[in-house]
Amino acid sequence: MDFEHKSVMVNEVVDALNINPNGIYVDCTVGGGGHLKAIGKHLDRLNGKILGIDRDEDAIMAATKNVVNAVPCGGGFSRENFKNLDKTLDTFGIRKVDGILFDLGVSSHQIDTPERGFSYMHDAPLDMRMDREQKFTARDVINDYDEERLIKIFHDYGEERFSKRIAAAICRARKISPIETTGELVKLIEQTVPRTKNGGHPAKRVFQAVRIEVNGELEILESSIRKAVDRLKIGGRIAIITFHSLEDRIVKETFKSLAQGCICPKSFPVCTCNHKPEIKIIGRAKTPSAEEIEANSRAKSAKLRVAEKIGERE
Ligand SMILES: C[S@@+](CC[C@H](N)C(=O)[O-])C[C@H]1O[C@@H](n2cnc3c(N)ncnc32)[C@H](O)[C@@H]1O
Repeated sequence: MDFEHKSVMVNEVVDALNINPNGIYVDCTVGGGGHLKAIGKHLDRLNGKILGIDRDEDAIMAATKNVVNAVPCGGGFSRENFKNLDKTLDTFGIRKVDGILFDLGVSSHQIDTPERGFSYMHDAPLDMRMDREQKFTARDVINDYDEERLIKIFHDYGEERFSKRIAAAICRARKISPIETTGELVKLIEQTVPRTKNGGHPAKRVFQAVRIEVNGELEILESSIRKAVDRLKIGGRIAIITFHSLEDRIVKETFKSLAQGCICPKSFPVCTCNHKPEIKIIGRAKTPSAEEIEANSRAKSAKLRVAEKIGERE
């Protein structure tokens, strides 16, 4: 199967990274390699370097194929979780880099491959793993979590209004027999929550919540951003694209914390902490143009935040 994914805000990402042709650039979520290819095209044949990371084997294969011969510079690829960015850079013998991109969430390839179980539009086993070497799947969440825990993830990760009703329906159904497929889960949700006119598919929020839980997407985000900033050179840029408010809030708050100077209590007449900011935030969050959203509806909720490294952590 071809790897289909339309990269989002490509020109904005290239601009945001303020590319140094002799620099090293890391894409922590390389997917099909669309962003990395665009970045690599601006790099010098001898001195520029790219590194693509993804936890999904399909992505690494597709990116390698799409990028290697399309850019002048050299580079490498690694099937890894970006939470291990520091170790990955060490493996490649790289200490500091000039730019880092995170384009969070799932690729269209993952959503549109029915057997991977990410989509409420196809009936498939409950899977939703980005990394298929991981043992823990959506089936484990749906069949093994107790009712309180299901309510919490549907509420916290899906912002689902009917969390309680859906969790109760799942617990009732699985007493009779385990819930094995996305189709069974969708049917259960459809029977449980009222269909609203503009709320999208009734299973959308639960599927987002289960996917986030299976892949531990939110819990690694802040520490991964901090690791990335740590490995940037002074003047290097970090660009992050998010697709929902839960991710965006973490990016915004982490940037804010890294950009903070003095952290003395407000009552102190003079600064005694000597705390220095590590980054400066570049502009406001950007969103895709109307033309891009028209051409790619999945870009609709994208938000790009950018920061530049200005100081080392003490
Ligand atoms: C939106 S897609 C990226 C698309 C890519 N920028 C392109 O231009 O084709 C997100 C990718 O990030 C990967 N991903 C998500 N979380 C990850 C993590 N913690 N570590 C590594 N890769 C991750 C997913 O497997 C997916 O391939």
